[in-house]
Amino acid sequence: MPELKMTMQDENPTTVPVEARTANLTDLENLRHFLSREDIDGAFQPALSDLVRGVSIQERVQLKFQNGAWIIAESNGNIVGCLAIVPASIPLEVPPAAQDGTVSLGVSLTRWQVEKLMELSTVVTDPKLRAAGVKGIGKLLVDEAIQWILHEGKGNWGLITDSWFGGPMGGFIKRINGIDTLLRVYTDPGKRGPHGPLTTVYGVVCDQRDREFFESLQPDIATLERVLSLQHDDDGR
Ligand SMILES: CC(C)(COP(=O)(O)OP(=O)(O)OC[C@H]1O[C@@H](n2cnc3c(N)ncnc32)[C@H](O)[C@@H]1OP(=O)(O)O)[C@@H](O)C(=O)NCCC(=O)NCCS
Repeated sequence: MPELKMTMQDENPTTVPVEARTANLTDLENLRHFLSREDIDGAFQPALSDLVRGVSIQERVQLKFQNGAWIIAESNGNIVGCLAIVPASIPLEVPPAAQDGTVSLGVSLTRWQVEKLMELSTVVTDPKLRAAGVKGIGKLLVDEAIQWILHEGKGNWGLITDSWFGGPMGGFIKRINGIDTLLRVYTDPGKRGPHGPLTTVYGVVCDQRDREFFESLQPDIATLERVLSLQHDDDGR
């Protein structure tokens, strides 16, 4: 079991044992409790329990389990982080903006040599542990998800993740990937409400094929980011 270091307790450095694994049916009730915690629910934009999401936290836990898998991180028997892996529904080409004032920007994915795209969703780690200086739980979860994708997809699947513009996912995933993988930015009222932030989609590097694909996209991604910074303030509206 990996030991994650607590960095804030300089005088008394200590480690926290954290394990990441695929959740099974018996974990779902604890997962529902974890995601229903006010600080976890409210870490998302909009909150997971917000009616605009169209599914309750309980339904979210069930549906994503049925359609894919949950990876959970545990420390001393408690869930301290999770993510879901489900089939992605992203079009390979960038769709036209639905109407004036809405945003649909991105890069084409047609040259990504993958059979199927999966997506990470509901990625979160315990803010209390983060505040106490524990680092690495998010990376542990994504590493486990990558292993799951490589195993289940036999090396033929690709992985993306979506989030909201201005949220922590952008910096986190860039750090994990070691390369900028911003693929899409779009207005998403169905998911984030009529005045919510833009949705952003990032690629996740699972293997060398992905790294080479994202490397080939760097000029397009740089252009995408330039257009985005010209069009929008930092709050992503
Ligand atoms: C995004 C999130 C899951 C990251 O989890 P975490 O446990 O803090 O991540 P880790 O400690 O494993 O970080 C791994 C690396 O990424 C870096 N990192 C983490 N968040 C970052 C950010 N927002 N910007 C830049 N780098 C970041 C860490 O410093 C660490 O770098 P290191 O390798 O140099 O030490 C966490 O911030 C979170 O739960 N946020 C709230 C929910 C959310 O926004 N979810 C995403 C939308 S689905």
